[in-house]
Amino acid sequence: MRNPIPDLLDELRERCADDDGGEVLSTIPELAKADPDRFGIGLCTIDGTVYGTGDAEHRFSIQSISKPFAYALALADRGRDTVLEHVGVEPSGDSFNEISLEQSGRPRNPMINIGAITTHALIGHEGISRKQRDKRVQQGLSAFAGRKLDVDEEVFASEQSEASRNLALAYLVHAREKLDGEPHHAVEGYIRQCSLLVDVRDLAVMAMTLAAGGRNPVTGEQVVPTWVCTQVLSVMATCGMYDASGQWMSTVGIPAKSGVSGGVLGALPGQAGIGAFSPRLDEIGNSVRGVRAFEALSADLGLHLMHAPEVASHVLYGVVEPDADGDGLREVQLQGTMHFAAVEVALRELEEVPDGESFVLDLSRVASATDVGRRLLLEAVERMRADRREVRITDPHDILGG
Ligand code: DON
Repeated sequence: MRNPIPDLLDELRERCADDDGGEVLSTIPELAKADPDRFGIGLCTIDGTVYGTGDAEHRFSIQSISKPFAYALALADRGRDTVLEHVGVEPSGDSFNEISLEQSGRPRNPMINIGAITTHALIGHEGISRKQRDKRVQQGLSAFAGRKLDVDEEVFASEQSEASRNLALAYLVHAREKLDGEPHHAVEGYIRQCSLLVDVRDLAVMAMTLAAGGRNPVTGEQVVPTWVCTQVLSVMATCGMYDASGQWMSTVGIPAKSGVSGGVLGALPGQAGIGAFSPRLDEIGNSVRGVRAFEALSADLGLHLMHAPEVASHVLYGVVEPDADGDGLREVQLQGTMHFAAVEVALRELEEVPDGESFVLDLSRVASATDVGRRLLLEAVERMRADRREVRITDPHDILGG
């Protein structure tokens, strides 16, 4: 095979597999049965290519990794303002099942149990029945995965029988009037949500859907609006790995979410969706090998979000000067993606065009533009034309059109 990526993932998995630290969760009986040595990694790209290594097809209950997706559904169904009235967006600094409420009674964020149960109760339209909500959650998460996800009834029953703490959290929020509906219904629905079965390939596709602005790269379905993904990824970045979130962001630098069954999901905007699974957990509750795998992936593949690529300096493909005898037009040729920083470089180049001189703005090597980039370029062209300058635009990909 010419593509080195499968070998690279196999090798990376091997390297992380020698770590047998940590313990399988013992508090949920059905999860305590997991084979501690399982280890799989999945990776999905923006065009929907999915790579898998190790136990890539082994299914496990999604657990807390369902939280960002449930948050996405609540945002899409009820809007940002309503969701923010009920659940905050600040890291709690507490463990995942703590009573982390703000003064107002609002849970601190949707990634800890108290906030996730409250978020679950917001999914669907107001007054939706429990059954319909369960269906919406199952369908919604399935749309993120690109295949129908099923509930593991044994895991569900096991967690339902040990739900005192989650019930206590739900009743507390209800008493503060931030949880809609019956607390025990919210907990039951939340536990069903946590019991959905996935493998690491599913996690990779789900993550890539978030990282691609809500469009599932495999099915092509727009699962949630793009603004929802921006909100969800932001909260994952600050709150996704419990009280290790700050350390995670500095070492791995990929918005992520972990779960007690041993899964870790990471979504790097515009680039990759990653899933890892290995049941032994560290003392914070994150998969030991899962964390190792993400650290290695981030370092080996240069995936740290804060490691900014140097795009702005390559915006200018070239400038063609007019002939000495005055024939021909000056041509300013741009390339790449016209986001704010790139366009800023381009605009300064346009300033260099001598007064009164006509020129060609060549966008044939430009791949895409953000709204801001397009707006700024159009504004500059308009100003130059208002200056009675002739500006010709070569725009075969209709970058400025849409
Ligand atoms: O509610 C619970 O405690 C579990 N269903 C899920 C918790 C979880 O995955 C937290 N993650 N580390």
